[in-house]
Amino acid sequence: MNEKDTSALRERFEKILRETGRENIDYVLEDLDSWGFFDAPASAQGHGAYPGGLLEHSLNVYDAAMAVREDMIESRPDIADQLDTASIAIAALLHDVCKADYYRLVKKKRRNEIGMYEDMDVYEIHDEKFPVGHGEKSVILLLQSGLDLKDDEIYAIRWHMGPWNLSRDDEKFYRQAGKATPLQPLIHAADTIASAIIERPYKLI
Ligand SMILES: [Fe+2]
Ligand SMILES: [Fe+2]
Repeated sequence: MNEKDTSALRERFEKILRETGRENIDYVLEDLDSWGFFDAPASAQGHGAYPGGLLEHSLNVYDAAMAVREDMIESRPDIADQLDTASIAIAALLHDVCKADYYRLVKKKRRNEIGMYEDMDVYEIHDEKFPVGHGEKSVILLLQSGLDLKDDEIYAIRWHMGPWNLSRDDEKFYRQAGKATPLQPLIHAADTIASAIIERPYKLI
């Protein structure tokens, strides 16, 4: 798999997080590094399925969320305060830290473009480490790293995947979170914009 130079992306990611002025950001960054966050893909075969894809995705979610915020507060200036830019940075850049130690590169026989089998590097999912979910795993890992998340940031990170595959109870909590803060629907929208549009793999139909 091609190694891209992601140092500029990483620098930007760290700068935005530090600018939030939040305590213990350096511990969070140290932990992200030790979990392999900066080299991880964003998915096994879909969007950002290459080293550094997760870092790129996280910044795309941040950019999409900030752009949507700008548009939204033009028509609803009263909610500007509820969409604090530091909270957007925390929620957008850290929503998927659960994926940092989640994919492993393995060699598998796959058909190439001319139909011949060859060894290819593919990502395999390893969900046996700390199996506590997706958004909730990100929240727990960040709290363990010492980040003092605000309630709306917890809601936004926990429910960033939106209303898919929810149990009846979860659906209730999901709706409550959306009522409690506009940060939750903003981060969900930005995650969808980033993964399904900005990072849309060319090969998908
Ligand atoms: Fe996610
Ligand atoms: Fe995501």
